[in-house]
Amino acid sequence: TEKIIIDTDPGVDDTLAIFYALESEALEVVGLTSVFGNVDTKLATQNALRLLEIAGRSDIPVAQGTKKPLDRPYSGPVPHIHGEDGQGNIHLPPPEKKPIDQSAAEFIVEQVAAHPGEISLVPIGPLSNIALALRLRPQIANEVKRVVLMGGAALVQGNINPASEANIYNDPEAADIVFSAGWDITMVGLDVTHKILMSQDQIARFEQSNKKTSQHISNVLPLYVEFAHKALGKPGMYLHDPSAIAYMINPSLFETQQYPLKVETQGISRGKTWVWTQTMDFPPENFGFDVDHKVTVVLDADCDAVIDSMLE
Ligand code: BDR
Ligand code: CA
Repeated sequence: TEKIIIDTDPGVDDTLAIFYALESEALEVVGLTSVFGNVDTKLATQNALRLLEIAGRSDIPVAQGTKKPLDRPYSGPVPHIHGEDGQGNIHLPPPEKKPIDQSAAEFIVEQVAAHPGEISLVPIGPLSNIALALRLRPQIANEVKRVVLMGGAALVQGNINPASEANIYNDPEAADIVFSAGWDITMVGLDVTHKILMSQDQIARFEQSNKKTSQHISNVLPLYVEFAHKALGKPGMYLHDPSAIAYMINPSLFETQQYPLKVETQGISRGKTWVWTQTMDFPPENFGFDVDHKVTVVLDADCDAVIDSMLE
């Protein structure tokens, strides 16, 4: 099994990702770290604790992360997508447990240093905690097994604006640090996640299961699904964060390419994940692309098989 730390801003699709990872025999979740994004960091922490309680896995530690991006203020929550509570406005009672005393970055550094080569990081929110962990201990770039993140839009448009996907847009400076660290990094971004849509019939299957986690999913989904319907103009649900877990478990269901990648931190395309795809008149190095450290970019998937795996 692969040991993972999920860095998360739960969030409805984060909820699916966390439950999916907890169910998988291929993965061992050694901790959750919280970050602002869909909700503020404090609420993200509370939700992470709540989700572990629902899954009966309160043995897994939660470390609270930073409350804001590295170099800018937090742009604020998105209650119209994930609810005021980040859980589709179902307003759960407070969690019983508390986060551990370490910060997210401290927890990541301690775990990775204690198990070199064994722990993979799975960021499914803005990349601030991961950048802070790299600042705290740059060697983690060699000690982490791999990074598989949900974020970015390489060959397709963004979802915050035409350029940028939300997780990268929310802390582009952190994303720049994380993509430049020279580690084994895979980007599961909108190129693939906008293709993996769950249908109404498939969504209904959560209600039919009496597992606590499935019941919770069916309770939190309506608001998120309604938002997706409006955005798509047809029924269906986005599976952004669980797609990163699916890639880890079933890489053969996905198509990838390796590209030099650079994050834009300024201006109209702030948060854009530019990839160097072909031969141009000038070398990529002239524009700050590192050709020696390519990023694995997930571009396509056997979408039906991926969704089957999630539902199972
Ligand atoms: C990403 O942004 C958040 O709203 C989701 O949880 C996901 O991580 C999609 O752009
Ligand atoms: Ca997320």
